[in-house]
Amino acid sequence: MRFEGKVVVVTGAAEGIGQAALLAFAREGARVVLADREPEKGQAIVEQLRREGREVLAVRVDVSVEDEVRALFDQVKSQWGRVDVLVNNAGIYMQGDVTQTSLADWERIMAVNVTGAFLCTRYAVPLMIAQKSGVIVNVASEAGLVGIKGQVVYNVSKGAMIALTRSCAVDLADYGIRVNSVCPGTTETPLVRAALQRAADPAEARRRLEQCRPANRLGTPQEIAAAILFLASDEVAYATGAILSVDGGYTAQ
Ligand SMILES: NC(=O)c1ccc[n+]([C@@H]2O[C@H](COP(=O)([O-])OP(=O)(O)OC[C@H]3O[C@@H](n4cnc5c(N)ncnc54)[C@H](O)[C@@H]3O)[C@@H](O)[C@H]2O)c1
Repeated sequence: MRFEGKVVVVTGAAEGIGQAALLAFAREGARVVLADREPEKGQAIVEQLRREGREVLAVRVDVSVEDEVRALFDQVKSQWGRVDVLVNNAGIYMQGDVTQTSLADWERIMAVNVTGAFLCTRYAVPLMIAQKSGVIVNVASEAGLVGIKGQVVYNVSKGAMIALTRSCAVDLADYGIRVNSVCPGTTETPLVRAALQRAADPAEARRRLEQCRPANRLGTPQEIAAAILFLASDEVAYATGAILSVDGGYTAQ
């Protein structure tokens, strides 16, 4: 039980990687906050965890809206008085090279993926400073480490998350706060299933995604969640500013 009694906020936790992380934290003893733009998608998980006797708070929040993020952390503070772990996981995706990406597209993706992580960090850190401890895990991507063809704004947003991780790690170490990043490779989640459905030939698109990595398969949300929990745990208390690839070898090529 690595997270017994800890308060863990996971953004974008209603489904996919965030949901897997929320479940894993809760089952290791954490009091968990499902923070999502559409929390109702995670209702079954909330009920399941409560049946298991876990403490769960579900909060509707758009991470790109400052007032909503402030209200989220006010609510967590009044409920449990602290935040031990923040997982900046909420993210959205779109395809397009630079000529196919409008300014509105650019701003929409950056608002959620980058500004969202900044805002949640901005409002969680004062609580962590007051308690002189805390861990932030940013869910970036293999796309933040290399230029993946035809998804320029997503790549840039994930590169920015890695820079946010390193900057905050350096700034916050004095307060006992660690900041690390997980870079997943393509993982079987609703986000990826929706992207595949938009392809002319979804089965072929899936085969291409599998074959472009040495492991020759997609990842599972549970495998990414395990890396998030590892970086958040006291086992690696010396790790800050770490960028952990979990991508079936994609960026090792
Ligand atoms: N699935 C992959 O292959 C993959 C690979 C690398 C990185 N990632 C990253 O992992 C994270 C999770 O991805 P996923 O595949 O589980 O996605 P998903 O679409 O399956 O789930 C994302 C969740 O975030 C929520 N969300 C979206 N916008 C939000 C907002 N503005 N405010 C609050 N919640 C919001 C959604 O409602 C949803 O519940 C994202 O940051 C994504 O970029 C995913």
